[in-house]
Amino acid sequence: MDYLTQPIDPTSASDLEAGGLRLTLVDTADPAAFDGWIRADFRGFHGERPKDEVLEEARGYLGGRRTTGVYDDAIPAREPVGTVNSWVAPLTVPGGERVGSWAISSVTVAPTHRRRGIARALLGGELRTAHALGVPLAILTVSESVIYGRWGFGPATFATAWNVDTKRVRWAGAETPGRLSFAEPEEYRETGERVLDAVMAGRPGEIGLEPYLAHRLIGPLKGSSDADKYRLVRYDSPSGEPEGFVSYVVKGDDDFTRHTVEVNYLAAATDEALTALWRYLLDLDLVATVKVWTRGVDEPLPALVSDIRGARVTDLEDHLWVRILDVPAALQARTYERDGSLVLHVTDDLGLAAGRFRLTVADGRAEVAPTDDAADVTLPVASLGSVYLGHDLARGLGLAGRIQGDVGALGRLFRTAVPPRLSTWF
Ligand SMILES: CC(C)(COP(=O)(O)OP(=O)(O)OC[C@H]1O[C@@H](n2cnc3c(N)ncnc32)[C@H](O)[C@@H]1OP(=O)(O)O)[C@@H](O)C(=O)NCCC(=O)NCCS
Repeated sequence: MDYLTQPIDPTSASDLEAGGLRLTLVDTADPAAFDGWIRADFRGFHGERPKDEVLEEARGYLGGRRTTGVYDDAIPAREPVGTVNSWVAPLTVPGGERVGSWAISSVTVAPTHRRRGIARALLGGELRTAHALGVPLAILTVSESVIYGRWGFGPATFATAWNVDTKRVRWAGAETPGRLSFAEPEEYRETGERVLDAVMAGRPGEIGLEPYLAHRLIGPLKGSSDADKYRLVRYDSPSGEPEGFVSYVVKGDDDFTRHTVEVNYLAAATDEALTALWRYLLDLDLVATVKVWTRGVDEPLPALVSDIRGARVTDLEDHLWVRILDVPAALQARTYERDGSLVLHVTDDLGLAAGRFRLTVADGRAEVAPTDDAADVTLPVASLGSVYLGHDLARGLGLAGRIQGDVGALGRLFRTAVPPRLSTWF
């Protein structure tokens, strides 16, 4: 499958052409063209003007993605007015299989060209291209939650943010064996990528990381505002196996005893690494607050501290959104914790995944085939995306009318004991 060279979607190209706009793949080997696209991407997310070293680093890392731009040839700009990029990322699904999924990122539209259907053309184009290439699902993380439902995406994992008052809590977990030590990001990068791969393979909802995404978690990218303050602590098991790390910055306060630690990423491939790294953070001297983002909804922290009110969830938010493109392939890739049989009637405004399917689960494995039997459950493809990774969302969607029929049976079949998690943005 060559997603880099697959031609641009003709429907989106002609929709935009009717409005005087040109949709095209960007030649990432041409630095001038690629820099213009990267600048537009930074601007779209209200970022800084990227310096030369930042552009160079981004070109090195992002050149392997399918990179699409929308250009308004009537204006004398080097930058496109719309951007998107995509690649096929391994998404871990229940049971541990890693399913090649169409990951979409950098969706931006210049404020000068908003609400003229550019995002619609970009998203429709991405989904039709992925579908044509036989990719069973598309995934993205979103800055606004109201946009992507219209294209059949449903929120499938949720993320928590934590604020720990470390003057209030003491470690209440078990002993933590293993070894902690500081590391320099540059020297740890290869080891860190291996640790991250184990983390991402070990939990439904996580995606295998390209070097760019891994680099962001291990150590600072060029131009990141806190680069000089970055710290990296690695955890190795008693037998010397690298199993985790935490990257963070410490920020000052007028009171020198009350610094704040902002965790960039906490990677734990084992329970021992998780507890050792949490303990490290909670025990830091001259620190009053530890802030952590994008943890799972089942983060075990409350059990590990002496006073659970000292470790508060400050945010709970939708995180990974899933769009099923091929119902049989997606549903057969995951496993199930109960056996059963259901006829699902899936509706899809874009017409990519619609149909009626019998899902039969035996010994945890599914067989899915088209059927004319009466439906047990009727649902839009966005709701199927929401329940796909095992999060317990069926009841709420049923109450909202976004799953109809035997909602209980669907919930029992799809949910998993451990909720899915995605612990990074892309
Ligand atoms: C979000 C963004 C990409 C939308 O681009 P756009 O070209 O203006 O969107 P379109 O004109 O194609 O709109 C498509 C539909 O989405 C809706 N929509 C777009 N942005 C929306 C928003 N921020 N809130 C609510 N609805 C929105 C439009 O109203 C339209 O609805 P319709 O289907 O009912 O007609 C653009 O505003 C942007 O670049 N924002 C900043 C970066 C960002 O947030 N990117 C998303 C990253 S995940």
